[in-house]
Amino acid sequence: MGSKNKLKRFRENDSFENVIQPTRQEVQEGFPLKGKWHTHFNNNNPIILELGCGKGEYTLALAQRNPTINYIGVDIKGARFWLGAKIATEEKIPNVAFLRTQIELVDLCFAMNEVSEIWITFPDPQIKYKRTKHRMTNPDFFTKYQNILVKNGLMHLKTDSEFMHGYTLGLLQGQGHKIIYANHDVYKNEGAPSIVTEVQTFYEQMYLEERKPITYIQFQFADTI
Ligand SMILES: C[S@@+](CC[C@H](N)C(=O)[O-])C[C@H]1O[C@@H](n2cnc3c(N)ncnc32)[C@H](O)[C@@H]1O
Repeated sequence: MGSKNKLKRFRENDSFENVIQPTRQEVQEGFPLKGKWHTHFNNNNPIILELGCGKGEYTLALAQRNPTINYIGVDIKGARFWLGAKIATEEKIPNVAFLRTQIELVDLCFAMNEVSEIWITFPDPQIKYKRTKHRMTNPDFFTKYQNILVKNGLMHLKTDSEFMHGYTLGLLQGQGHKIIYANHDVYKNEGAPSIVTEVQTFYEQMYLEERKPITYIQFQFADTI
């Protein structure tokens, strides 16, 4: 995407009421919406996050299906979620927001028990050992997610990466968390929840064209059960 196009999207993002773009400093010094997201949505409905949302396919699709739940797509790249924010604005979907921030800061953006579920959709698997700290299902990220999830909060991981699927399953078992459902090829093996095969993200569509299997894990952290 050209830089002119990106600038246009950044400007439009600034004008969308459903886009929140705090600076790193604002988040670190006390993010005003932390623990108060209900004031943004004007209701006390549950909140579900999509981390690394890209264009926000799950955020939008879930929001349209469940109007009494609020959905927030989180990504550092505003030019990507611009599309989701624009569709939600034009189609007047009130239960959608996009937060431009680093996922590393997620527990500074949401309070304890503020989030009901988290979707992680096609994260970069960060295969190299030295990149482990950036892998979105590593133990440090798990702690951050546990810090903001409600009791019985659900986690969803959808990925084309067999490495990430296996790594996450191993970690979940090793740490004694509850694996509710796991499928290493959701379009081939029956039984995946319908939402998993009904909604395809931008990256997922590319991987499907390459005939890669798509995997899914639904789980709960031991501390939140
Ligand atoms: C491979 S893309 C997947 C996007 C989308 N979920 C999909 O399936 O089409 C990964 C996304 O995660 C975002 N991302 C990666 N690391 C991040 C981080 N540490 N904080 C925030 N966003 C991050 C990237 O900007 C990118 O949009």
